[in-house]
Amino acid sequence: MSIADDRSSPLDLRRGTWRIRPFDPADVASLVRHGNDPAISAMLRDRFPSPYTEEDARTWVAHAIAARPMTHFAIEVDGEAVGGIGFDLRGDIHRVTAEIGYWLGTACQGRGIATWAVREATEWVRALDLERVEAEVFETNAPSIRVLEKAGYVFEGRLGRAAIKRGAIVDLLVFGRLREPRAIGGEGLLPREDFAALVARTPLVSIDLLVWNERDELLVGMRRNRPARGCWFVPGGRVRKGERFDVALRRLAREELGIDVDPARAVPVGVFEHLYDDNFAGIEGVSTHYVVIARALRLAADEPRPPEGDQHDGYRWLDRRVLREEPRVHPHTRAYADLPAPR
Ligand SMILES: CC(C)(COP(=O)(O)OP(=O)(O)OC[C@H]1O[C@@H](n2cnc3c(N)ncnc32)[C@H](O)[C@@H]1OP(=O)(O)O)[C@@H](O)C(=O)NCCC(=O)NCCS
Repeated sequence: MSIADDRSSPLDLRRGTWRIRPFDPADVASLVRHGNDPAISAMLRDRFPSPYTEEDARTWVAHAIAARPMTHFAIEVDGEAVGGIGFDLRGDIHRVTAEIGYWLGTACQGRGIATWAVREATEWVRALDLERVEAEVFETNAPSIRVLEKAGYVFEGRLGRAAIKRGAIVDLLVFGRLREPRAIGGEGLLPREDFAALVARTPLVSIDLLVWNERDELLVGMRRNRPARGCWFVPGGRVRKGERFDVALRRLAREELGIDVDPARAVPVGVFEHLYDDNFAGIEGVSTHYVVIARALRLAADEPRPPEGDQHDGYRWLDRRVLREEPRVHPHTRAYADLPAPR
């Protein structure tokens, strides 16, 4: 069965004065008011032009209303259509995939509205017969990347020189949200068996983020996954093939901590060897070897907002004494207790 199935009812959801609902011809004027903004069209496909005219809005609204199934909707705030969200359904062998797109007028940005809309719309479309919802984002579009991450999408890769926008050739970043959890804790890059073969044969490179607060406490999370499951461990993760170190550091800070970190602020503290007798999949006789590059930073505020992830069950700040003495602090993290923290 496909999304075109008649069970699909149009999206109509509210949260306070926010609403996602079918477009209405009466929306045209407010769509132009909020959408006629070069900063918005700069991040979208050319089918959302700049200037964005009444004719453009009228054509889009008519198209969206007539489409069956209906997959493009208005985002309404205080009774006014201030943006849009919707899906392009892919065909042929990709018919299990939908691509999400969205925009919101600048007057309403920064209030969590897009995150709410992306979460809800994704749930709605996933309830139909789709395996995957994806998004393609310009790498300069930090707010949209953040929205996708907060809504549970995972960065999957970069399409090099894949598009042209306003005369410039650009890379696109691909984010995906799958119906089933990924084979490897949130990675989605390699089938589980391939990753297991890799772990069995080669060291992995990873980054540990040593985040200190002003009270000289270190941020640790309760690890959910092997190896190191059930232990307090600093945030961090693997560097991916082809991923530059600074890009990996930024991604990990975003994924694990929900913060944007300037790599220049993350001070090198050394290279560490983390050897484990077991592995992510619990396969008998396979050890894990990480070469860990540790970088430290100090946060002014002690409240990072870790997004919903699958690596940690909660975060704590631990002082150096606890780091040394608490048995559930993993020895690899305990080793950081005696290192100086950046100013
Ligand atoms: C992307 C867009 C829909 C976001 O709308 P929004 O309602 O402001 O989004 P939210 O408020 O839900 O979340 C924005 C997040 O981005 C963060 N953000 C904003 N500017 C940022 C920046 N320059 N760097 C890093 N993060 C930034 C915000 O802090 C917030 O994250 P937080 O909740 O962790 O603080 C809106 O900016 C837009 O319409 N942009 C133009 C069109 C577009 O890019 N569409 C998506 C194409 S893929």
